[in-house]
Amino acid sequence: MSEYQKKVSEAADYVKKIIKKNSMKIKTAVILGSGLGGLVESVKDKHEIPYTEIPHFPVSTVKGHGGKLILGKLDGRDVLVMQGRFHFYEGYHMREVTFPIRVMSELKITDLVVTNAAGGINRNFKVGDLMIITDHLNFFGTNPLIGPNVEEWGPRFPDMSEAYSKNMIELCEKTACDEKIRVVKGVYAGFTGPSYETPAEIRFLKTIGADAVGMSTVPEVIVARHAGFKNILGISCITNVTNGETKIEATHEEVVEAASGASEKFIRLVRATLKNHKG
Ligand code: HPA
Repeated sequence: MSEYQKKVSEAADYVKKIIKKNSMKIKTAVILGSGLGGLVESVKDKHEIPYTEIPHFPVSTVKGHGGKLILGKLDGRDVLVMQGRFHFYEGYHMREVTFPIRVMSELKITDLVVTNAAGGINRNFKVGDLMIITDHLNFFGTNPLIGPNVEEWGPRFPDMSEAYSKNMIELCEKTACDEKIRVVKGVYAGFTGPSYETPAEIRFLKTIGADAVGMSTVPEVIVARHAGFKNILGISCITNVTNGETKIEATHEEVVEAASGASEKFIRLVRATLKNHKG
């Protein structure tokens, strides 16, 4: 067993004990993006575990990220919520960025809702829109699966033909329609950041079929697919729009503020989608 596997196993054991003590059965995990942390207020019977308490867990550094695992009930369903994630631009290794996904997998979690704040590239997108991610483009210049493959975890060459589960995309879209929440669908391009994109990069992304761009999600989804998660749903909150032509500045404050503004409908969409998901 590699050092990394041992670390994942020890971190999972720590969380497992808390899950067992509270007689929970968690199949669903939610990763909350910048400014979308409000969902935790809907979680009942909460057990909050700061990342610093979990053996080997990385610790997040970005403003607007809480840095804790929350175990509890969301509308009667046991869930694990990650408030605060690890970004590649913070200097973490890809294995650290995706460490929580390995822990979730060890906990036998099968369904993942991954959320983020993203810049809108598609001309039809407006600030505050929620985008159901249909697919992604990996522009991290690396891949979290590089290195020796752990056969017990997944295949050397995992399939990515359906990175985001078709059934979840359809379910989320139908739920949004029922709830009268405007949603858009599109391809998410993952860039490392931390600098925002230049107009030329935006034009390039538009040309190759990206609808939104952000600095997360792609590594986590690659690892979740490798680990054999059954249902993966990605939702981006469009916090700013760029067109690659006029100068439109992006700031972190604006991103967090726009995400917070969309928070109510985002929470409603996630909760209603999970309610409709009989998994
Ligand atoms: N670019 C990259 N990441 C982002 C953006 C953006 O414009 N907005 C929110 N996250």
